[in-house]
Amino acid sequence: MTTFLENNVSGMPRIGDTAPSFTAVTTQGTIHFPQDYKGKWVIFFSHPADFTPVCTSEFMTFAKREAEFARLNTQLVGLSVDGLYSHIAWLRTIKEKIEFRDMKNMEIKFPLIEDITMDVAKKYGMIQPNESSTKAVRAVFFIDPKGIIRAMIYYPLSLGRNFNELKRVIIGLQTADKHAVAIPADWQPGEDVIVPPANSCGVAADRMAGKEDNVYCKDWFFCMKPLPKEELELA
Ligand code: BEZ
Repeated sequence: MTTFLENNVSGMPRIGDTAPSFTAVTTQGTIHFPQDYKGKWVIFFSHPADFTPVCTSEFMTFAKREAEFARLNTQLVGLSVDGLYSHIAWLRTIKEKIEFRDMKNMEIKFPLIEDITMDVAKKYGMIQPNESSTKAVRAVFFIDPKGIIRAMIYYPLSLGRNFNELKRVIIGLQTADKHAVAIPADWQPGEDVIVPPANSCGVAADRMAGKEDNVYCKDWFFCMKPLPKEELELA
């Protein structure tokens, strides 16, 4: 396993890298990242700036859905290149004044990192100068319980994130790990999953002949199966 610093050619962390570590001040005290979250999944995300409307709508939605992520053993950690007092004032304003859809009095309880030096944002490729050299883009890193980056999504300043997709990514990664399967396009929890191609002709032939429990194939390279019933109930 190579770390970001040992083997970085693109200037950004990549899937499979160990999440770059740092210590930071947050609205919930000092954190040591990612060590403090060992054993949990983490959604580590950046937003462009406090006191901006799209970010406000996103923070309210993160707060509303925090318990859904917690049920998936997933911790939310936010960051912007604003300072701690700006974060505190913005989060207080959101709680006291902002209503959006069915949300009001929303309290943000997950840590929001201050990063006025941009040190952390730069480590994670969150500053993308052709979009903005003074604000982070809307980055989302999905980090597994061993501190490995498993997926990343980057959005521009003008586009708010889709929270159903963030949740689907976490459930999809957890499902792929637990059952050693792959996740097809537009998959939703409860739907059948892909059985990775067999690595020997014998296994592929058995699969095609329907000899593997619950596995059905359209061709030797395209086999699917349902998940166990208890997983469907979880979904
Ligand atoms: C927003 O969150 O509304 C926003 C932030 C930076 C630039 C444009 C929009």
